[in-house]
Amino acid sequence: MTTPTNEKNHQKVLLVGDGAVGSTYAYAMTLQGIAQEFVICDIAKDKIKGDAIDIADATPWTYPKNIYAGEYSDAKDADLVVITAGAPQKPGETRLDLVNKNLNILKSIVDPIVESGFNGIFLVAANPVDILTYATWKLSGFPKERVIGSGTSLDTARLHKFVGQELDVDPRSIHGYIMGEHGDSEFAAWSHLTIGGITMKEWMEIHPEVTQEKLDAIQERVIKGAYEIINLKGATFYGIGTALARISKAILSDENTVLPLSVYMNGEYGVKDVYIGSPAIVNRKGLKQILQVPLTSEESTQMKISADALAKVLKDGFE
Ligand code: NAD
Ligand code: LAC
Repeated sequence: MTTPTNEKNHQKVLLVGDGAVGSTYAYAMTLQGIAQEFVICDIAKDKIKGDAIDIADATPWTYPKNIYAGEYSDAKDADLVVITAGAPQKPGETRLDLVNKNLNILKSIVDPIVESGFNGIFLVAANPVDILTYATWKLSGFPKERVIGSGTSLDTARLHKFVGQELDVDPRSIHGYIMGEHGDSEFAAWSHLTIGGITMKEWMEIHPEVTQEKLDAIQERVIKGAYEIINLKGATFYGIGTALARISKAILSDENTVLPLSVYMNGEYGVKDVYIGSPAIVNRKGLKQILQVPLTSEESTQMKISADALAKVLKDGFE
């Protein structure tokens, strides 16, 4: 297929990492008709060719899309590069256990992409995502606004799902965030979670069967969410594939949407020089603004503990 010219409304995405997460993301993007041009890169050369042909078979039923197996040099005129290349956790491993393995893989990706002349936005999902997003920012030399991680987007979706189930409310009517590391030190910022505008505290006054113990159990299940799935089937990919498509759409369509993402902190929440999960406004230029939601002092402490855990890994990995 020929590569269309880069017209103003033409959106081009380059995916690096065509494993379980990457291929699910590519499929989600196709089903939703997000981006007209989609390039798949991976060291598994036959797999990317096979997936490009296989997914293209879906496009007559969905949306026209130029999807092909490519090279890092194809990033030259891409709007968005999404990185899902890297080892996933084995049962019993934490995300942070992956750091050395995946940092090396990341280095082999970011340099050639930057050398291609790429001038768009990096969206990182490989784990440990907060560390690898920081590394992408450092390695690329891009402004912090143009390097974003998927952060706690998936965890927040899990939170909305579980709260929706507990309260018997559509999860799309739940607004609130999992914040901090995409990992074991994350936390639910319950103090400003709302259900159709009603705070959880107000909901609990009207519905005394919703107890603090139930909320604690939900938070625990979110934190352990990935482990639960990995123990059952070896990997997680539908949730993150869909979350990545949502983030991509918000960026490419210049939506100014608030999403919980891994963003660079420079004093916000009393946290400095880490990428960490926080609600943030994103658009065509990348990060527009970090939303500083008012946290209780306990939540604020949890954010700092989570940031310290990430800062420690960064210190060990970058010095
Ligand atoms: P996978 O093993 O199925 O796929 C990884 C892919 O990376 C493979 O296709 C492999 O060939 C490719 N790869 C390896 N080294 C490469 C290199 N040097 N250059 C290019 N490609 C390379 O793994 P997966 O299940 O798709 O998970 C991928 C990553 O996403 C893992 O780090 C996992 O932990 C992470 N993940 C993140 C989230 C999130 O919420 N951020 C959710 C699920 C998984
Ligand atoms: C998740 C991955 C493993 O599903 O980070 O949360």
